[in-house]
Amino acid sequence: MTTSQQSVPMNKRDLLQQKREETLLGGGQARIDAQHKKGKLTARERVHFLLDEGSFEEIGAFVQHRSKDFGMEKQQFLGDGVVTGYGTINGRLVYVFSQDFTVFGGSLSETHAEKICKLMDMAMKAGAPIIGLNDSGGARIQEGVVSLGGYADIFFRNTMASGVIPQISAIMGPCAGGAVYSPAITDFIMMVENTSYMFVTGPNVVKTVTHEEVTSEELGGASVHSSKSGVAHFTASNEIDCINQLKKLISYIPENCEEHAPKLPYEMGDEMRPVLKDIVPENANQPYDMREVIEQIADEVSFYEVHKNYAENIVVGFARLAGRSIGIVGNQPSQLAGCLDIHASQKGARFVRFCDAFNIPLLVFEDVPGFLPGTDQEWNGIITNGAKLLYAFCEATVPRVTVITRKAYGGAYDVMNSKHIGCDMNFAWPTAEIAVMGAKGAAEIIFKKEIDTATDHAAELAAKEKEYGDLFANPYRAAERGFIDEVIFPEETRLKLIKAFKMLENKVANLPRKKHGNIPL
Ligand code: HXC
Repeated sequence: MTTSQQSVPMNKRDLLQQKREETLLGGGQARIDAQHKKGKLTARERVHFLLDEGSFEEIGAFVQHRSKDFGMEKQQFLGDGVVTGYGTINGRLVYVFSQDFTVFGGSLSETHAEKICKLMDMAMKAGAPIIGLNDSGGARIQEGVVSLGGYADIFFRNTMASGVIPQISAIMGPCAGGAVYSPAITDFIMMVENTSYMFVTGPNVVKTVTHEEVTSEELGGASVHSSKSGVAHFTASNEIDCINQLKKLISYIPENCEEHAPKLPYEMGDEMRPVLKDIVPENANQPYDMREVIEQIADEVSFYEVHKNYAENIVVGFARLAGRSIGIVGNQPSQLAGCLDIHASQKGARFVRFCDAFNIPLLVFEDVPGFLPGTDQEWNGIITNGAKLLYAFCEATVPRVTVITRKAYGGAYDVMNSKHIGCDMNFAWPTAEIAVMGAKGAAEIIFKKEIDTATDHAAELAAKEKEYGDLFANPYRAAERGFIDEVIFPEETRLKLIKAFKMLENKVANLPRKKHGNIPL
């Protein structure tokens, strides 16, 4: 024992020890057991598995609420329902808050909110990501408006931190009422299947107001939010899977908007990918899976798909190319022929903006016949929503490279990271077709008179279709103009991309001075 330790009376040391032990119990052993029974970990166990061994440093473990109504002064739990602190993931600093469902259902009191805000302020000053492990019944009902104020304080900070430090939310239990809006402002939401749900109003309120009978899972479970609403970007089969995915996600992104994502060591080898020769079918109307192209281009098993089950006509996700982190956006010909619709445009735009905010270069694979036609799309605003993707690409200043694998038709040609809106290198495969529309549709319009007056309409249409196709269903017209930088063989694509992104490593591009743009929301 050191001299200074000897000078501290034992009872004071005991008090600290006792308090430390008390913090570990949260809302008590019975509630911890109940949490485990539901297949859920406790707030502390989650932090333990998320962070590098021994790296967690807790902040505010002895905070207690100040509420006196409803006999609350007699119900005190150290930490007040949220574990906050910092640590490392693979040696990189992160801040974490983990809501403790065993203390008033993880509900948010004034002091609980203060702890989260303090952590967010620290994360902003240090320029490091913040991860929220959410498990909360929403505003602490006993506290009334101060709890609502606490939420607003968090929302405000979420918004100020947006685009400055990465903010990631894992939903690991109920998330009701105000508890959903903070995650909604953060960059990514990950939900655990069967044990987490998110909704503004729960099944009981829904029943009262709309007379709909719906379970929590049907209303706001992981599967609903990852496929129907798009609120969740990732799902995990259980809590450990969720924690492992959080670590994986963090590995692709930088600490803050001033830095670059970590680069893994990579030795150049044989970068030719002969499989790519045979992926695009001979028949231009046949589908294929753009993921197969992505898997060939990206470093082995590095593709981590975002929004996998939502708006599947566009594929987005992180990958590595020669060890460098990149964001990939690809049309998906196997779903809706790869057409852009409202949800795909929103999904793509959000991802592009995240990558741009955090210096992650963008790679686009294009095979798009156009925007999805129809009253449903028009009435629900495909114009405004399609413009989101257009806007997001236009304002992105990170290195941007496009590969046109097949169709690049109409407005979608412009939108999908075309040279005209700031793409740095635009490659096309020999199978590329770059035109205002498909040859058949074009022939039917511009040669209408000739086709109508011909004795054999079908033969005339076929001839005119061929004439248009020969002129435009190829990449060479665009290459003549310099809209395509190089027409390449599919098998050499990976090598070309590695070189292009290396060349663009020190790209500098600035937007005009402004307060902020006005993306068509
Ligand atoms: C205080 C709460 C609480 C809350 C749960 N508890 N929610 N205490 N404020 N919001 C307490 C319970 O009293 C209970 O205490 C313990 O947490 C566990 O709750 P249970 O109901 O037993 O658990 P479970 O059956 O798993 O149900 C979880 C739940 C449910 C779905 C979250 O508790 C629930 O519906 N809670 C209320 C949700 C809600 O309406 N929140 C307010 C939203 S309004 P004991 O002592 O028994 O362990 C809102 C406005 C903010 O958030 C708007 C900002 C924009």
